[in-house]
Amino acid sequence: MKDRSGTISKPSERSNVLVRRARVEDKPHIRAFTENTFAWGDYVADAFSDWLDGGNDVYVAEVSGIPVGVTCVAYPAEGEAWFQGIRVKSELRRMGIASMLTRASIAGARKRGARVCRANIDYDNYGSQGLAQTMGFRQVVRIAELTVPLAGYTRLSGDAPLLGDTSVPRKALVSRDAPVSRNADTYSTIRVTRVTPEEAGLLFEAASREIRYLGCEYVWVSLTRQNLARAAAEEWLLAAKDECGKMLAGALMSSPYVEDHVHTGSEDSGGQQAAEEGEPKYLCAGLGSIFGATEGVLAIIRHALELLRAEATKKNITPGELFVSVEAESPAAGGIPSCLREAGLDFQVHGETGLWELSLSI
Ligand SMILES: CC(C)(COP(=O)(O)OP(=O)(O)OC[C@H]1O[C@@H](n2cnc3c(N)ncnc32)[C@H](O)[C@@H]1OP(=O)(O)O)[C@@H](O)C(=O)NCCC(=O)NCCS
Repeated sequence: MKDRSGTISKPSERSNVLVRRARVEDKPHIRAFTENTFAWGDYVADAFSDWLDGGNDVYVAEVSGIPVGVTCVAYPAEGEAWFQGIRVKSELRRMGIASMLTRASIAGARKRGARVCRANIDYDNYGSQGLAQTMGFRQVVRIAELTVPLAGYTRLSGDAPLLGDTSVPRKALVSRDAPVSRNADTYSTIRVTRVTPEEAGLLFEAASREIRYLGCEYVWVSLTRQNLARAAAEEWLLAAKDECGKMLAGALMSSPYVEDHVHTGSEDSGGQQAAEEGEPKYLCAGLGSIFGATEGVLAIIRHALELLRAEATKKNITPGELFVSVEAESPAAGGIPSCLREAGLDFQVHGETGLWELSLSI
């Protein structure tokens, strides 16, 4: 399969493609064929070592001993497999290689006891959608995404200092059209607190009326009591409550992470602003699984921005942006852009993805 120049020619038959478990020494090959996957590059080669160390199933497809395809299956929750990072060398696409990798992934997921396989696919990635469809996956929900930059965000004058909880004057949060009772005391406060695993059951009741999935970045699991309690223990599960302790809204916030780019909305930079070489990068965080009333959601977004800024100051990294993802058909989704606008918060609509599922129970 290798010609004299050492480059790989197309496999004439699928039998020339071998799918096997990935190994550390595959990394340079993976870097070589994924360098230009997307206009912005790719993350797969950088993530590869963590994939191998993280208890995942990682597969490569090789032709003549050279890796030309890769994929990773993670197991973020009991019975749930998460398919991510599938890549095939561009010259060898439409030859069934990704299908072979996916079939191996599904077989591996079955062996691990998964009842469902799930993946997140960009709304405009028709190749990946086509692949998912041929493998039997179906889109189950659309996720709308927007980014709220920290630059230019100013703390409300009435905010309490960030000591774990944030109290925000309700008057400052309520939009003109917000469904607030006429008798509501507009000077009363909304408190945003971190939910403990013990309190998570309460949040589950409210959340499950509006959303079906739990996630705040790229990995989503089913919204179940068990998954919510784990999220409360391991991540920042936030709840907004009124002065009587009534739950207004909830959301899941990721731990902050460092990014090379933030979305600026500026056309000159193509909507992206990159950190200069050698310069500090940006500290960002995800906020997802958002549900509840607009005023509570806005209080949570403000709280998340404050948490992110506090972390950035502590770590001495430039504050970046909050990456907000919300189930597109959920009651909270429609109100978020207008409430951000009314609150004077800058934001950029980022795009949409779909969650795709394959049930293994039947
Ligand atoms: C998506 C990707 C992994 C598919 O790999 P592949 O080896 O070409 O896929 P296969 O040959 O197994 O395709 C199987 C089926 O998927 C569908 N499909 C694959 N690529 C497609 C495309 N570009 N457009 C439409 N359908 C496509 C077709 O139904 C295809 O069957 P067919 O060729 O008999 O019509 C590959 O295009 C790739 O690496 N893309 C860039 C990275 C990427 O987008 N990854 C997914 C991120 S979620």
